[in-house]
Amino acid sequence: MFYLFPFGRVATADGVIIYGAGEVGQSFVRQLNVLNLFPTIYMADKKFTSPQTIENIRYVPAEEVASLPNYPIVVASVKFGGEISQSLVSQGVSQDRIVTIDSSYALEESQVEPHSYNWNEYYNNAEGHNEVHFHTYLEPLMNKYHFDFSNVLDFACGKGRIAELLSTFSGSLTCVDTNDEAIAYCSERFSNKDNVVCKVSEPESIPVDSGSMSFIYSWDAMVHFDYRSIDYILTEFSRVLKSGGQAVIHHSNAKGHSSFEADKNWRKNPHWRSEFNAQDMAHICQKSGFIIEEQLVIDWGVKSLDCISVIKKR
Ligand SMILES: C[S@@+](CC[C@H](N)C(=O)[O-])C[C@H]1O[C@@H](n2cnc3c(N)ncnc32)[C@H](O)[C@@H]1O
Repeated sequence: MFYLFPFGRVATADGVIIYGAGEVGQSFVRQLNVLNLFPTIYMADKKFTSPQTIENIRYVPAEEVASLPNYPIVVASVKFGGEISQSLVSQGVSQDRIVTIDSSYALEESQVEPHSYNWNEYYNNAEGHNEVHFHTYLEPLMNKYHFDFSNVLDFACGKGRIAELLSTFSGSLTCVDTNDEAIAYCSERFSNKDNVVCKVSEPESIPVDSGSMSFIYSWDAMVHFDYRSIDYILTEFSRVLKSGGQAVIHHSNAKGHSSFEADKNWRKNPHWRSEFNAQDMAHICQKSGFIIEEQLVIDWGVKSLDCISVIKKR
């Protein structure tokens, strides 16, 4: 949650007092630090037992507010603004100095869909890690299942770092991604490979013929997809795969995690993993006509954060 400082309702002064050092107060301080509107910032809270200055903020115990300079006081609480305001007035603070906020100042941080996010920084950084990802995770599964590589789909291929490796032994490899710049890059990257085709994809539809693929893989992309997107895209996987075709899907296992509570907004979770897990994948597969062949829970910076599901179309 983001709490907007009540700019416009706070009088111009040499300083400001923020009453409350919780999430709301911290959010205010971050905004004031960027804008530099008040040379002096006090932050008062019951939890402070003695005055202390850290960087540009003077932290003071709540009961000392009445003795501070005559600056405007912004109450950093949506729920208790009324009570705090009353209590300040009863301590002799003038009502006109007090500014409270209501719930219209509490804003949800925006939820960006993975297909609209700007992945440029990722593309630049991830390139060097393709071999280690391939040899650690994908190759052992390939050796175990002997997938049919005659017609392969790289779903959400990015700039093609994994496709670079798969292209050497795939009969035909189709790379799809919603990012047109990434696909333009792939087209150039694989321009000397007759077996590779690159296509811009729609978020919920894959531009290949029904039943045309023998194998699909998706690496480090569906880890950010929520339940609804995976449910949708697996219907597409089922459409484009031939009967008996297989897929290796790298996805999130963050939901119900033992060390943190996954947020619905994937950008707020460790490694930006979505609120999804191996059981969700098993459920979707069962209702979309896939057999789960294996689910490999793996660590990704955090223990058991991800899962690789090997699935087969009935
Ligand atoms: C983190 S990057 C991973 C790229 C690549 N798989 C790799 O390992 O380098 C995620 C990619 O997923 C793509 N993407 C997100 N949603 C998509 C969707 N619904 N269909 C196709 N591509 C999608 C993004 O454009 C981005 O290129």
